[in-house]
Amino acid sequence: MLQTKPIGLFDSGVGGTSIWKEIHALLPYENTLYLADSKHAPYGTKSEDEIIALSIKNTEFLIKRKCKMIVVACNTATTNAISILREKFDVPIIGIEPAIKPAALQTKTGSIGILATKGTLSSALFHKAAAEFTKDISVVEIIGEGLVPLIENGKLNTPELTALLFKYTKPMVAASVDYLVLGCSHYPYLIPKLLTILPDNITIIDSGAAVARQTKSLLEKNDLLNISESKPELEFLTNSDTATLSKLLEEYKANITIRLGDF
Ligand code: DGL
Repeated sequence: MLQTKPIGLFDSGVGGTSIWKEIHALLPYENTLYLADSKHAPYGTKSEDEIIALSIKNTEFLIKRKCKMIVVACNTATTNAISILREKFDVPIIGIEPAIKPAALQTKTGSIGILATKGTLSSALFHKAAAEFTKDISVVEIIGEGLVPLIENGKLNTPELTALLFKYTKPMVAASVDYLVLGCSHYPYLIPKLLTILPDNITIIDSGAAVARQTKSLLEKNDLLNISESKPELEFLTNSDTATLSKLLEEYKANITIRLGDF
């Protein structure tokens, strides 16, 4: 039965688990297969062609494993490759993009900040959304260079990471932003540290919960929702070390499997 097949997710590494957590919380009976392409992280510094090729490789793998839907749990892959993936593959595909629209609609200071990868900020899809939603406000775009490798290596509580966050948020604070959009699925893991750094009037937003709601509605629309209430199979594959993945998924460890995979 198609409904019991897994939802396939991929990211350049461990970051998309922040999206998986939202999806699993909303859809706790869905089987899932997550690919952490950590061997090729970061995607954010790669060319558009490289990002497209990696996204196709990951999607092909997930489709071979019979996934009923694909969630591109990576802003960089979404903004550079999603239209090509949708042309090429015949399954519903959901992506994640920086949540500029809600930030632009809610800002009171007329100034918002966006932290994302170079690949996302330079993409045509991001420029199109920015042009549409941020015409009347000012936007401070900052490339979070170096953040993804630190998160991939489990270095969340290091002086090096804190220093980078101070450096990247300083121009935003100076520009009186009241919203900080996290435009990379790795970055929700930075929220505890960002909260200690940012002034209280800055609200952080990411797209994880919205992607989970969209996943649910697309499953419903395509009659793909798993109605069985049995314990789901929650599989995580990485083509690098399992250590960081295990650490970020610690609270789920009794119910998931994490393995090395060749993809
Ligand atoms: N997690 C990714 C994103 O959402 C990719 C970051 C990277 O690999 O550079 O953009």
